Amino acid sequence: MDLANKIHDRKAKVGVIGIGYVGLPLSIEIARAGFETVGIDIDKAKVEAVRKGKSFIGDVKDAELAEVRGKFTATTNFKALATCDIVNICVPTPFTPSKDPDVTYIEEAGRQVAKYFKPGQLVILRSTTYPETTEKVLQPVLEKNGRKVGRDYYLSFVPERIDPGNHKFNTRTTPVVVGGVTKACTDLTVDFYSRFVERVIPVSSPRVAEMSKLLENIFRSVNIALVNEMAKMCERMGNIDIWEVINAASSKPFGYMPFYPGPGIGGHCILIDPYYLAWKAREYDFHSDFIELAAETNESMPFYVADRIVETLGTNGVAASEARLLILGAAFKGNVEDTRHSPAIKVMELTQDKVKSIVYHDPWVPEIHVNGGKFKSVPLTAKALQTADCVVVLTDHKCFDYDFIFEHSRLILDARNAIKRRGSRKLFTLGNRPARR
Ligand SMILES: NC(=O)c1ccc[n+]([C@@H]2O[C@H](COP(=O)([O-])OP(=O)(O)OC[C@H]3O[C@@H](n4cnc5c(N)ncnc54)[C@H](O)[C@@H]3O)[C@@H](O)[C@H]2O)c1
Repeated sequence: MDLANKIHDRKAKVGVIGIGYVGLPLSIEIARAGFETVGIDIDKAKVEAVRKGKSFIGDVKDAELAEVRGKFTATTNFKALATCDIVNICVPTPFTPSKDPDVTYIEEAGRQVAKYFKPGQLVILRSTTYPETTEKVLQPVLEKNGRKVGRDYYLSFVPERIDPGNHKFNTRTTPVVVGGVTKACTDLTVDFYSRFVERVIPVSSPRVAEMSKLLENIFRSVNIALVNEMAKMCERMGNIDIWEVINAASSKPFGYMPFYPGPGIGGHCILIDPYYLAWKAREYDFHSDFIELAAETNESMPFYVADRIVETLGTNGVAASEARLLILGAAFKGNVEDTRHSPAIKVMELTQDKVKSIVYHDPWVPEIHVNGGKFKSVPLTAKALQTADCVVVLTDHKCFDYDFIFEHSRLILDARNAIKRRGSRKLFTLGNRPARR
């Protein structure tokens, strides 16, 4: 039976390499569509958790793992690839300390696919990366043994768009873009993804698909940087509230989309992806000032917020060196447990030496490391709030009781505008100049 028929009859066996934030929800959706699915990960703890039916990702419920029990299994053994008709690669694409792309995870996953190659296999790269990775990094690894794409196997890039914490759009309802190396690669990938994603958009090549993902994330990065700059500008001007400005601008029903200032960006996407493209562009003697300026502006925000904490304490009569801080939120954004590149942790690192003590509360994140030291989330009690010289909101989790926080705190710097109490003399936000009391 050829692959198209196997896909049609839900007889194709599917492998997912890397069962993290992207790979786990994807595996579940594929299994739900009726395909026998195996997740392959080097992390034994994740494989064990799947086997026990225990989710390790906030958005994925144990009940969903139970629903696909029998259809979805996990293993650390790459031999499982030898029986897979389709392989999705969902491994990390981090940057190096000097912010160059690190595609070694993709290369390693490719080597495993090549080692346990099954003739006629469809290989789909999902990891976000710079244009030409599919054809110039992954394809050569897969073709080391003289195999040829379109003849011996098929290869596509399908950018991942999942937005952890977003309950409106999920794997099924978020459209996907598909770019195959050949037309047959695209057709098979479209056919497969159409079985479990509502809308699939084919494009002419993997390069277009790779670049489209970067455009989406850089669009966010640039707009967040713009609004961060405008927030600082409003602070300098002193009598314009950026949040009121954004609300007003948002009333325009076309040509405007609101972005909000904050303590910076984090996670595994918007912070990293612009650097991937800027790096690749340099190969063509193209310096993407715009992209790098946005990244620089966003990365300056934790430094800015750390300074604002000291300043807010000072203008309210508390010497920073004597201050006890209570930080609310350690995750990189609201309603997720992910702390990768979290600006909240960066702010804590930058502030630790400047104040007497720091504690944090985050129901999503029980423990973090700050400057090499271990911190555990403290309970959010009235006493904890009252004891703090300044409460700093760095992550806007929905589960926070903002009325309770406001009522019991003595001084608040709300870097997310989560506490809607304009006019209060104890509440300060970004995009507002703190007034003397
Ligand atoms: N997290 C998101 O919201 C998101 C959204 C869109 C795109 N992406 C992209 O998707 C990719 C994966 O991101 P993620 O957030 O799922 O990362 P993750 O760290 O949560 O998951 C990656 C998994 O791959 C595993 N892994 C690493 N090397 C491996 C190997 N050689 N073989 C098998 N498994 C291996 C890791 O153990 C981990 O479980 C990245 O390129 C990221 O940019 C992520």
